[in-house]
Amino acid sequence: MSVRISLAPLAAAVAEAGGVGTIGAMCLPPDELRDNIRQARSLTQGVVGVNIMYAGSAFNQLLEVCIEEAVDYVAIGAGFARGPFKLLHQANIPGFAIISSVKAASLACRTQGITGVVVESGTAGGHLGPKDPEVTIWELFPPVLEELQKRSFSGPVIAAGGLADRQDMLRALDMGADGVQLGTRFAMTEESSASSAMKKAWQEATGSQVQWWSPTGFASRSIVPHPEGQLPQVSVNGTRCYQCLKRCAHHDDPTQSHCIRQALLNSWQGDIEHGLVFSGARVGDMTDIPSAAEVMARLTTGS
Ligand SMILES: Cc1cc2nc3c(=O)[nH]c(=O)nc-3n(C[C@H](O)[C@H](O)[C@H](O)COP(=O)(O)O)c2cc1C
Repeated sequence: MSVRISLAPLAAAVAEAGGVGTIGAMCLPPDELRDNIRQARSLTQGVVGVNIMYAGSAFNQLLEVCIEEAVDYVAIGAGFARGPFKLLHQANIPGFAIISSVKAASLACRTQGITGVVVESGTAGGHLGPKDPEVTIWELFPPVLEELQKRSFSGPVIAAGGLADRQDMLRALDMGADGVQLGTRFAMTEESSASSAMKKAWQEATGSQVQWWSPTGFASRSIVPHPEGQLPQVSVNGTRCYQCLKRCAHHDDPTQSHCIRQALLNSWQGDIEHGLVFSGARVGDMTDIPSAAEVMARLTTGS
């Protein structure tokens, strides 16, 4: 989870508790990603991977770091291309594609190097892939799985988006998922690098809503103090452009959109009034900030 939410402490804690820990690489300078990978490795022998958004302008450099550091896996979202998966395949690193449609499932089956897929629904926190951003994992997963099976996809298929607890996890496994990916639940942990203001906002939130105005061109889901259709109050004019995305509406016209990186960084720095707090649809069902190990124990043993 980006920007700066899932770094070495959270990824290592999840991995140490038997899960798959993921460092969110979007908007990290490549050297900082390298430091985080090494720090996580120093904290755990468990499985630690990296999530990179293809839409990011530093995508190639971040992928290079992952390959040089021989991370345990790489998940690629917000766009799709064959080249990166080929590179991962050559480096013997499992590559996961984050997909949100039957069409993307079909494409994934025809792409060398895709070892597994994460099927992410519209009820997930963050940027959303599905055409219908309200589609639940219970609606999206079965037809996507059917397509993958029809095309003899043999890798793990992970369900994500709107999963909050063990009951959800068991339901997803029952539906045929090989595993689950939870975002908001782990953003709301002690080891998450989110600001205390973000953690408080998640704790107090009763739900999340879809915004259509991300400069990335994707819809996104968050709890925000901004009503639908309004930009976060990050200076639309005058925000310096970080050139962080390959295509960005704010870069093209700073008067028409906001800087997504600044909006996320503001929240990370504690100023949620001028930022975005990405969040899944089930945020209202989570009120505490436990350790990542505690979350893992609740998921795996029900204790
Ligand atoms: C704060 C936050 C940041 C996120 N950042 C990313 C990201 O950088 N890349 C990505 O592929 N998904 C990102 N996501 C989506 C998560 O990886 C995960 O798939 C999603 O949160 C699952 O839905 P849930 O929050 O309902 O569990 C983010 C989610 C949250 C809540």
